[in-house]
Amino acid sequence: MESTAGRWWAPGRVNLIGEHTDYNDGYVLPLALPLGTTCTARARPDGVLRLRSEQAPGDTVDTTTADLSTAGWSDFPAWSRYPLGVIREFERRGHEIRGLDIDLDSTVPIGAGLSSSAALTCSVAIAVRDLFAPSVSTADLIDITRTAENVYAGVPTGVLDQSAALLCTPGHLLFLDTRTGKTEHIPFDLARHGLTLLIVDTGAPHRLMDSAYATRRAECATAAAQLDVPTLRDLPTAAEIDRLPDPVLRRRARHVITENARVLRIAEQLRSGADPRTIAPFLTAGHTSLRDDFEVSAPPLETAVAAALTAGAHGARLTGAGFGGSILALIDQRRATAASERIREALTAKGFTAPHIFTATPSAGAHRLG
Ligand code: GLA
Repeated sequence: MESTAGRWWAPGRVNLIGEHTDYNDGYVLPLALPLGTTCTARARPDGVLRLRSEQAPGDTVDTTTADLSTAGWSDFPAWSRYPLGVIREFERRGHEIRGLDIDLDSTVPIGAGLSSSAALTCSVAIAVRDLFAPSVSTADLIDITRTAENVYAGVPTGVLDQSAALLCTPGHLLFLDTRTGKTEHIPFDLARHGLTLLIVDTGAPHRLMDSAYATRRAECATAAAQLDVPTLRDLPTAAEIDRLPDPVLRRRARHVITENARVLRIAEQLRSGADPRTIAPFLTAGHTSLRDDFEVSAPPLETAVAAALTAGAHGARLTGAGFGGSILALIDQRRATAASERIREALTAKGFTAPHIFTATPSAGAHRLG
């Protein structure tokens, strides 16, 4: 019998390494968090779309599939443009969505660089697929959810977050070549080595993020054009960037090229079964590159990374787009509690918000709950 209702879930993510590489056709290496968004959905026969979110109580959206094709999207509350964008995108690709009641609830902190938006779009996308469009492939779901974010929510992201939410598996990192779509699941069992991955959500809002993100994207495209390559992925070594006259573009390009190399290096180490401590210097080098070359760090992130390293982390870096949000730290399990305290003290001593600190284990990608 055709399913008409159910509950679906999709996770937030942490990107171990490979930042600002996805829109340059490069490599990324995320893991799924155990935190995610639950989408409770029921098909309706009357073309009505009714959306609610626990995170926006009192903000019920009531519209119709017909309205979606014509409506001024700015009339919809910002959070709802993500799920509505997904629905619209299914329709635009020829799938009839007869109507839906959707209730959303999320445990992913919003604005923390942990992809609450991909958790949202992907939980809705797998619900819509199961209810109305079972033939849609995972590759298409990645495209649908990314388009929802780019076009309807207006954030020009790459495919990192949506791919992580849809493709990650428990106990593994997802190694993704964003040019070819080729994936590999690399085991990441930190506990076996007495290690843990600490996530520090600094609570620093990344308000400038949307415009600065678009600027970085444009800078990378300009650098690639000036170097006469389709994307920065096509430059094998940083030596080539000397041809760029603008020092800012040189720095942006250097980040992308060295970051791709770091992803490949870390993937190789972990694939070969090496002690994960050996990847730590590349994590910290990735942070330095994001701070100095890509210029997307922020004072609370600097304080958190420095405090984590002082407290014994083997490596630490900002994760996600930057400008605020979270850092990750690779640290021995036995030191994690004391280090969390040190990081908290360092941040509050400088007048920053008290952080939310937790450990991340690689968890499941998007799936149906019931
Ligand atoms: C955000 C975007 C991703 C990616 C990262 C930076 O999370 O959504 O596509 O570009 O920033 O690595």
